Amino acid sequence: MLSAERNQTLTASAQGTPMGAMYRRHWIPVALSQEVPLAGGPPIRRRLLGEDLVLFRDGAGRPGLLSEWCPHRGASLYFGRNERADSPTGPGLRCVYHGWKFDVDGSCLDMPNEPEESTFRNRVRARAAYPCRELAGVIWAYLGDPRLRPDAPQLPWTILPAEHVYASVRLQLCNSIQAFEGAVDASHVGILHSDIGLWDAGDEFKRVRGGIAVDKAPRFYVEQTDFGLTIGARRRMAGGQAYWRFTQVVLPWYVVLSQEPDAPGSGHAWVPVDEHRTYTWTFSFRADRPLDGQEVARWRAGGGLHAPLIPGTLTPTMNRDNDYLVNRDLQASASMTGISNVGMQDAAVQENMGPHMPGTLAALGSRMDRSSERLGSADAGVVATRRVLLAAATALEKDATIRPPGVLVEDQRQACPYPSMLVDEETGWHEVRGLAQGEAAGSAPPAGR
Ligand code: FES
Ligand SMILES: [Fe+2]
Repeated sequence: MLSAERNQTLTASAQGTPMGAMYRRHWIPVALSQEVPLAGGPPIRRRLLGEDLVLFRDGAGRPGLLSEWCPHRGASLYFGRNERADSPTGPGLRCVYHGWKFDVDGSCLDMPNEPEESTFRNRVRARAAYPCRELAGVIWAYLGDPRLRPDAPQLPWTILPAEHVYASVRLQLCNSIQAFEGAVDASHVGILHSDIGLWDAGDEFKRVRGGIAVDKAPRFYVEQTDFGLTIGARRRMAGGQAYWRFTQVVLPWYVVLSQEPDAPGSGHAWVPVDEHRTYTWTFSFRADRPLDGQEVARWRAGGGLHAPLIPGTLTPTMNRDNDYLVNRDLQASASMTGISNVGMQDAAVQENMGPHMPGTLAALGSRMDRSSERLGSADAGVVATRRVLLAAATALEKDATIRPPGVLVEDQRQACPYPSMLVDEETGWHEVRGLAQGEAAGSAPPAGR
């Protein structure tokens, strides 16, 4: 359990909160590059850490992330006119109310409703303008103090060329920590997802089905690292063997999952929209080769760890409003949940947790009160994740200039996907971790791209 006060700290992400300040020290995945495919095309809305923003690709092809609210009288720049590179005032987004125009850096390029001789335009900027980078088909932004901006992230999927990575993003109606905790709580996998063979998921999951299903009470080992945590889950198998999987918890919101032989790697990010909602990112990648058409088609259709979305939205087709299309007959006969997509099985539990914290707008999304939960030994990863997150945020409160865990690319490079291991059951945590680390290092792509 967590005291009401610590729960409040852990789950708040707005500007001025300890966690919000920590999040703002990291690069943030904002949108898929293909969501703003065209130079001079329409902007899209994003709400990040409680801040309303618009993302656009200017007439010169550069991504720009601005406050949604025009600094003049607050009109939404979402309806802005994204002007071409050859327009007389250059590329930029023009507010349609009185025509003020801003470039990707937030400078005001034009102010047609002021006298021509006015210099007012030089003293006005967009309310916020954040630097962006494009990596692995995703636009990333940095929302923090420019003097403390770290290098662009070097996570297992950002160091690869875009053809090696498939990324998707969906909206989840719960606080981001609820979703993050789901990934470090590996004991749910053999239970919530116990209809694993029914997933439209392909061979990589069928391979792990045996290991995860056999022992429903895995033993957990947690080790603190420079980037966050390495968590090992050991399951006993027949014949005196043990099946190990590893989760790398990379602060502030990533996990890198264990990789099965010859299968793609996977990772997630849970980025707070605000206290009630989350952008759930899923990254599938192959270090050894570009993705093939079949893989991409399956993920695009919502297979594997991805989810089918209502076209033109970030809302899954299976969602809270339709009870995730739960099939109670299937639940009675063959499936724990009766829900047919693994990500939606997670969403169904995470979006419907409670009781809620006082003041929660439950219609927006779930924000649970952790002060009365009952944690057992299987929750070791959950407890450790809360501890490192709160410790990082608290340390930053004391000294805003320190580098929180996971910010440095040297730390991120350590968080490579460990292979799952089938070893003699006598093999201890340190030995098996060393073996997995050695294998991961042997197959890692060259760092520093
Ligand atoms: S509100 Fe945007 S130009 Fe007036
Ligand atoms: Fe899950």
